[in-house]
Amino acid sequence: MTPLRRRSLLAAPAALLPLARALAAAGPDAPEPDAPVPETPGLAAHAAARRRFYGSALYEDALAADPGLLAHVRAECGMLVGEYSFKWASLQPQPGVFRFATAETLMAFAAANRQRVRGHTLVWHEANPQWLLDRLAPATGERLLTGYIAAVAGHFRGRLVHWDVVNEPIHPEDGPPFGLRDTPWLRALGPGYLDLAFHACAAADPGALRMINEFGGDYAIDWQQRRRDKLLELLAHLLARGVPVQAVGLQAHLDAGERALNQTVLARFVADIASLGLKVVVTELDVRDDGLPADIAVRDAAVAAHARAWLDAVLANPAVLGVLSWGLSDRRSWLDQRFPRADGLPQRPLPLDASLRRKPLWSAIAAALAGAPAP
Ligand code: XIL
Repeated sequence: MTPLRRRSLLAAPAALLPLARALAAAGPDAPEPDAPVPETPGLAAHAAARRRFYGSALYEDALAADPGLLAHVRAECGMLVGEYSFKWASLQPQPGVFRFATAETLMAFAAANRQRVRGHTLVWHEANPQWLLDRLAPATGERLLTGYIAAVAGHFRGRLVHWDVVNEPIHPEDGPPFGLRDTPWLRALGPGYLDLAFHACAAADPGALRMINEFGGDYAIDWQQRRRDKLLELLAHLLARGVPVQAVGLQAHLDAGERALNQTVLARFVADIASLGLKVVVTELDVRDDGLPADIAVRDAAVAAHARAWLDAVLANPAVLGVLSWGLSDRRSWLDQRFPRADGLPQRPLPLDASLRRKPLWSAIAAALAGAPAP
């Protein structure tokens, strides 16, 4: 039994004692029961009070298997994004074969809860089916790209609020042109792949806000400054040639162990994006804690303070439309695979803990939203 659980059992009121005993009898690995949905307003309501939105990514298995999580998603989120179901490998696993069922299950859940949905993502260098990579070449690239976007953005036409048209196009280490990442798309079509994608999306679903979604612009360190500079350069080039990009997604995969969080640098970056006439969405907020000690209270406080500082700087700009986190609860985060802690403990990167209790990060997001000027 963890020290935390023992403390909470000792503190259990009399009415809960049978439950507490059952838990204790179940042994150290028994999961704690799901926390009930609080009566107080969720993050979506805090955001709406400032005319912003809050939402989160949902891993699709939860739709059938995790009613406890779904109850909290309903209460906290005004917007959802599928963690995997809107990616190419999911939507078109074979040539000519589209599978919309999982994405549609998420759409139906969102509709039942009056939640909006953002599309993630049309063009990326990951989550592509092998058949696509096998066929992608200069002669075939344009048809593959524009045909897919016409089919997929057309399928969801009028039902998504945003499309991440291109995900993660920047990687200055790959060299010219424009700091663009060396991807199958760049190799087949050159930088014009972005133009094709944005025009195709505008034609297929003119109402969805068209975005470039990018990571690694969060800190005042050299390689991230280069990423910010290159992204701004790319955006200026795209706009100058009439490419219909409308907004930038800042993924905000933050790292609580990183000291180079500079609010002035961040605010200037957001202001530079806004000065191009573009909107900004915080699309994938979560906070790594693998650089921090094991103690839960220490980690939770550091994660919350770190996110608060980042969000305060970013949300000060009225061009920022809202915030989504990459998951709602610590019970599942991609970070545990991507950046596992050396001590084997699960990361605590999200607003609710694994038992669906609000954490200090929840309060930090609520406070940052409350402190943001309404646009
Ligand atoms: C991640 C998902 O969370 C994982 O489940 C999946 O296996 C890989 O992709 N940036 C993005 C997201 O834009 O699509 C990524 O999501 C996380 C990093």
